[in-house]
Amino acid sequence: MHTTDRNNKVISLSTRISKQQNPEAAPNNKKYKPKTRVIAITSGKGGVGKTNIVANLGYALSRLGKKILLFDADLGLGNIDVLLGIAPRYNLSHVIMGEKSISEIIVDGPGNMKILPASSGINELTNLSAGHQQKILSELNLIIDPVDILLIDTAAGISSNVIYFNVSAHEIMVVASPEPASITDAYALMKVLSIKYSENYFKLLINSASSISEADDVFRQLQLVANRFLNISIEYMGHVIYDKKVVKSIKQQKIVCEKYPGAMASECFMALAKRICESPTPSLPDGSNSFFWKNLFMRKCD
Ligand SMILES: Nc1ncnc2c1ncn2[C@@H]1O[C@H](COP(=O)(O)OP(=O)(O)OP(=O)(O)O)[C@@H](O)[C@H]1O
Ligand SMILES: [Mg+2]
Repeated sequence: MHTTDRNNKVISLSTRISKQQNPEAAPNNKKYKPKTRVIAITSGKGGVGKTNIVANLGYALSRLGKKILLFDADLGLGNIDVLLGIAPRYNLSHVIMGEKSISEIIVDGPGNMKILPASSGINELTNLSAGHQQKILSELNLIIDPVDILLIDTAAGISSNVIYFNVSAHEIMVVASPEPASITDAYALMKVLSIKYSENYFKLLINSASSISEADDVFRQLQLVANRFLNISIEYMGHVIYDKKVVKSIKQQKIVCEKYPGAMASECFMALAKRICESPTPSLPDGSNSFFWKNLFMRKCD
């Protein structure tokens, strides 16, 4: 840990959350609620369950009546289509090449969800140029209106694509499993996003937990180091239990919530979807009319 991290001022969790929840409390600070909520699901370490979470959370939210778009932002190694058992003809590589528009590549998924598929095995897409990154978001912005919640499935790690899509989202949900490497990588990701990109508010979901108390322990560990060394707030979104039905459904290319609605993991996803619907939509500065306002702002600041 760097000395500068230790010197960072720690702002109390409750104060920061109440500011987020009641931004109007700040005088002369006009804000508005975006029509489409944009949530990035990210992790640091790979293989912790992001794609499975995006698919199941999307399904659970659509069961609650929300119009959902899943954006596979793991551009070089996208696999949300495989997980859902669909075979889209076109994907984001065609958009980047200028051959298709985003609306032409969106396909239907289970439970009325719409899917924006990525390509797999195209190395060049793992680190897009700034121009291509912006092209995707500007095109997305044109078709986003009917969508209630856009869920972004990021790649693992801290590549420029991962940072870009996280910073572009309104909310960042970090996924960690109880494995030590997953916890340290989740911390490292939040540290980079906080120190370099001023992202100071994160949601945290613990996946593959063996019990509620194990998940709570992971949250407390992360909260402790974050409070000590980083200027961030972490909102705990709960856990998804380790469930063999998840593995079974993935092998069948079905999502567990659809195939085994009574499974323990499916109940966790439904609870998570309800928690997300109940948690307040973050407000954006007045005058910003696109979902990627933060991204534009970041570019201006670079
Ligand atoms: N709650 C769970 N219970 C049991 N197994 C799980 C659970 N969540 C994820 N898994 C297992 O973890 C594997 C990896 O999941 P997934 O592909 O969603 O991870 P990822 O974070 O998207 O990986 P990557 O970083 O490579 O994109 C799944 O194939 C499944 O076997
Ligand atoms: Mg994935």
